[in-house]
Amino acid sequence: MIKIRKLCKRYGNNQVLKNLDLEIKTGETLVVLGQSGVGKSVLLKHIIGITKPDSGTIDIDGVRISDLSGPDLYKAVLNMGMLFQGAALFDSMNVEENTGFYLEQHGDPKTGKFYSAQEIKQKVTEALEVVGLEGTEEKMPSELSGGMKKRAALARLIVYRPAILLYDEPTTGLDPITAMHINELIVKIQKELKATSIVVTHDIASALYVGDRLALNKEGKIAYIDEPDAFLKVKDPIIEFLCRTVTEDPRSFREH
Ligand SMILES: Nc1ncnc2c1ncn2[C@@H]1O[C@H](COP(=O)(O)OP(=O)(O)O)[C@@H](O)[C@H]1O
Ligand SMILES: [Mg+2]
Repeated sequence: MIKIRKLCKRYGNNQVLKNLDLEIKTGETLVVLGQSGVGKSVLLKHIIGITKPDSGTIDIDGVRISDLSGPDLYKAVLNMGMLFQGAALFDSMNVEENTGFYLEQHGDPKTGKFYSAQEIKQKVTEALEVVGLEGTEEKMPSELSGGMKKRAALARLIVYRPAILLYDEPTTGLDPITAMHINELIVKIQKELKATSIVVTHDIASALYVGDRLALNKEGKIAYIDEPDAFLKVKDPIIEFLCRTVTEDPRSFREH
């Protein structure tokens, strides 16, 4: 369970998060929708401990990570992974090196065990298979399309099987078919890892496809949070507008 209470964050005169409250249940996929600049990425960066709040608290499974720093914070967030908006692969490493990087550096986040080169190779191969990138081990990031970069970044994330996954705009900038592949992967990974996932996006189709619950970040706080059908019925101009942009319910594309 992730509990966020009265989270406030200001940059200069820009009060981004304004007493934001949010609870994420263990094992669910929660989607946070919201317009650009509303503070979606800032929220994720607080959860993974990159950014410190001005005030307010973040508890993850009873640990107040917003109070931690240095090695304690590092240890508390080892079990989390974030898919950054721009994929953020290491340009000088090939797909195999990128994917194995975390395991090589940190070992297993749960046990602290370090793996042999052979074991890492095996885990990298498995992770690349999950995202459909088998056979691309030798490719450099510059040789990959946008969708492939996202998938490589996903492989790098799932290779160490984090318990909490944060996705920052996973489908932004992708064509609709590639975006749907990424949505499918998010659902597949969720099932396989049984992780807790938070997806921030402004893509309502993606939100409906992957989300167990949907939330709207409006003016720096969570204005509404509910299961998809109830969320879509909320009388709010932003939600009403988002609904009008989807012609067919994306959940109907899900393979059950
Ligand atoms: N490190 C920073 N320094 C100053 N302003 C920032 C910083 N990070 C984010 N902001 C500002 O906070 C607001 C929310 O940013 P962000 O969370 O990236 O929005 P989005 O919802 O599009 O992800 C924006 O106005 C942005 O300019
Ligand atoms: Mg953002």
